Amino acid sequence: MSKSGNNVTGGKRRMPGWKRALLILGSLVATFALVIGSLFTWLYTGAKVSTVGEVDFHNALAVPPLAASTVDADGTRVFDLRMQAGETEFTPGSKTPTWGFNGSYLGPTLRAAKGEKVRVKVANTLPEESTVHWHGMHLPAAMDGGPHQMVPAGGNWAPEWTIEQPAATLWYHPHPHGETETHVQRGLAGLFLLDDTASAALPLPKSYGVDDIPVIVQDVTFDGAKFDHGHKLMRNVGFLGDRTMVNGTLDPYVTVQDELVRLRLLNASTARVYTFGFDDGRTFRQIASDGGLLEAPHTADRLVLSPGERAEIVVRMKPGERTVLRSYPLDAGLDFWNQRFGGGDDSFDVMQLRAAPTLRPSAELPGALVASALPTGEDSARNRFFELKASGINGRKMDMSRVDETVTRGTAETWTLRNDDGMPHNFHVHDVQFRILDINGVAPPPPLRGPKDTVFIPSGSTVRIALRFDGPADPDTPYMFHCHLLYHEDKGMMGQFVVVEPGQSAGTLKPPPSTGSHQH
Ligand code: C2O
Ligand code: CU
Ligand code: CU
Repeated sequence: MSKSGNNVTGGKRRMPGWKRALLILGSLVATFALVIGSLFTWLYTGAKVSTVGEVDFHNALAVPPLAASTVDADGTRVFDLRMQAGETEFTPGSKTPTWGFNGSYLGPTLRAAKGEKVRVKVANTLPEESTVHWHGMHLPAAMDGGPHQMVPAGGNWAPEWTIEQPAATLWYHPHPHGETETHVQRGLAGLFLLDDTASAALPLPKSYGVDDIPVIVQDVTFDGAKFDHGHKLMRNVGFLGDRTMVNGTLDPYVTVQDELVRLRLLNASTARVYTFGFDDGRTFRQIASDGGLLEAPHTADRLVLSPGERAEIVVRMKPGERTVLRSYPLDAGLDFWNQRFGGGDDSFDVMQLRAAPTLRPSAELPGALVASALPTGEDSARNRFFELKASGINGRKMDMSRVDETVTRGTAETWTLRNDDGMPHNFHVHDVQFRILDINGVAPPPPLRGPKDTVFIPSGSTVRIALRFDGPADPDTPYMFHCHLLYHEDKGMMGQFVVVEPGQSAGTLKPPPSTGSHQH
């Protein structure tokens, strides 16, 4: 009667249809789990990058030239920066298409002293519009080089301002909204060093390129001769390269001729956080943070720098010895997922230091450096709160025509920065150097007590900072605050503030300027 259940084939009773279906389903699920599992294992294992022990350091470190300048009749120091497309041979015979300032990759080091008036004549000869932003510089908003100061392809821009801040290692890079990551990756970045009488009076290593060496660290991936700027699967922090270079030099070594060498470290990577140290475990003295000298040298064997941050360290060398500047895995309490896919497990042999057989004696480092002039938070006129998410700050994506915060010229404020986003972020504020008041309620460690314009904020952290806005006021031109993981910034993790006179309100921002030359 029934069609199923009683058919006999070869004397064996056939398994009921539902059982077979279940069995097939079961093995499908098992296979699927196995595939997903191995895919994950493969992704997870493949996501870890290390060049430790694999770098042969066969290239002498390039040192970016000091930019030539002229002095105008009124005393203004004038620089020329030409943004240009070109090709760079990172490896002999292999030409990589790159962008640079006054050259094919990176840019010259600009240098000026406190009190000087400077003008930078920027010429954009690139095939698309861009900007040049002076990261860490206190200056009028219209000179800042953010996304509101676009320089069209073929256009010019000549911002000028007076240097009114202490000696520091600042830098410059493009800031076109939505395009900053690619413009920086192609090679547009350079240093802007500031000097002052206080730092000149201190016995610090200060011969540029000799015992005072710029160290611009970037991570890169090559696909043949070309850069591969692709974001790998699961990398929600943005681009992470599989090797590093310094000042555009792959596998670099630097010859040291003095007992003490000062390294001006800049993390010019777009997403990677470095944990610098030396392969032989030696200690070094940190003397400066983003915006200038600390109150006293701080002895350490590790130094964490997130994208955009700078630090100056002094390393003692013995005649003839070698040591490797290494980046170690990150210990910032990231979760399992972000630790691996955010690059936290990665390590790199960044640069070798080779001491000459005989070294010139260096003066001992002073016990004290400079007195801090940073706001303390006690006179803060306002508190503001910033919830950091890759999807936007305080729930809002960057909008070029919206003023997010209006601050009064001449006042100090306390900003609370909260990251609960499950991934690492950092926070950069234009125009000011701030003091970190506390991290998760605890006073910052010594290296984070100096002047800062960018602070690393791992997920699960709250950082309070004190800032002072000295002006000038310009209600119509905003400064930016943003995550300096450039993929996040580009995606809209950025906001705008204007500085106004007491009682004044923010102006109406002009619609985003576009020259129509924009292309991909
Ligand atoms: Cu280094 Cu808003 O940038
Ligand atoms: Cu900046
Ligand atoms: Cu971010």
